[in-house]
Amino acid sequence: LKVAILFGGRSAEHQISLLSAKNVISSIDRELFEPILIGIDKAGKWHLKNDSMDLLNADNPKLVSMSKGGAEVILSHNGNDHRLISVADGTPQLEIDVIYPVLHGTFGEDGSVQGLAKLANLPCVGCGILGSALGMDKDIMKKILRDGGIGIADFFTFRKGSAKNPSYKEVIEKLGNELFVKPANLGSSVGVSFVQNEEEFNKALAEGFEYDRKVIVEEKVTGREIEVAVLGNDNAQASVPGEILPKSSWYSFENKYVDEDGAALAIPAELDEATTKRMMEAAVETYHLLELSGMTRVDFFLKANGELIVNEVNTLPGFTSVSMYPKLWAYSGIPQKELITKLIHFAMD
Ligand code: DAL
Ligand code: MG
Repeated sequence: LKVAILFGGRSAEHQISLLSAKNVISSIDRELFEPILIGIDKAGKWHLKNDSMDLLNADNPKLVSMSKGGAEVILSHNGNDHRLISVADGTPQLEIDVIYPVLHGTFGEDGSVQGLAKLANLPCVGCGILGSALGMDKDIMKKILRDGGIGIADFFTFRKGSAKNPSYKEVIEKLGNELFVKPANLGSSVGVSFVQNEEEFNKALAEGFEYDRKVIVEEKVTGREIEVAVLGNDNAQASVPGEILPKSSWYSFENKYVDEDGAALAIPAELDEATTKRMMEAAVETYHLLELSGMTRVDFFLKANGELIVNEVNTLPGFTSVSMYPKLWAYSGIPQKELITKLIHFAMD
């Protein structure tokens, strides 16, 4: 099977994507799959690559087109026009059986690539259009989870230019004065502020609106940062929980890894059996509520009183050699090579 691995991309997480892709490309089972590398540069141009990860040397980018079952969809080309340019009847230049987006953040994790894959009639690794879009929009995600009885940090939604936005007074009465202000649809902390007074709040809101037409204002939640990996479609399974450790306690844990940001991971998280079970169940419930499929990492806060809060979901989680998602599965009995094979098979399911 020919697997088009998309990497790089226009988001702020371009660099992480390169590391994730490097790992996927070196771990993919080459007896089963033939990887076709497509690098997307920061401007959004698509480059057909040989076995090289160097986007800067994309000296001979070819027209990239994909097809299956008749229609040819040209995804991008070598000029300045980066739009979906046509559905032509020409001969496909590149045969592909499945798309594997190893992209993080906007234009990769948000449903756009998933929609393109659907249009091209190609299976795509990971979540579909709806799940990807829901996972990216913090406002909608939280409303769906709240409706489904999953704990979330309490919040208000602000819309650009709306007269109906709540006042600062209303916000602090309900959420307290320690607040996070976040653009609804961005990842990797872009445009996110922590504020403690009205002046900071107004500034943060204005900054948030530079990135998105919708901004959420959240209460500050204090708790342990614990993450669960979910894998599969209708019968999705949860991994054991893993914990992001404060740096000071790095060396006190037996199973530890250091991720690409230098944070230490404890796998499994030190939790009693009942809490472990509760988190795994909440992760799978979150997965189904948000219409997710293929894979997702569900990130929790575990409060001192035992309450579970879903902070966010990552539908294309970091996949470097030291990332939480593949490490959790490796610990749970699925080594990376097999995990990638499963992900591709779930896409074709
Ligand atoms: N968005 C990054 C890659 C992650 O949370 O894994
Ligand atoms: Mg994220």
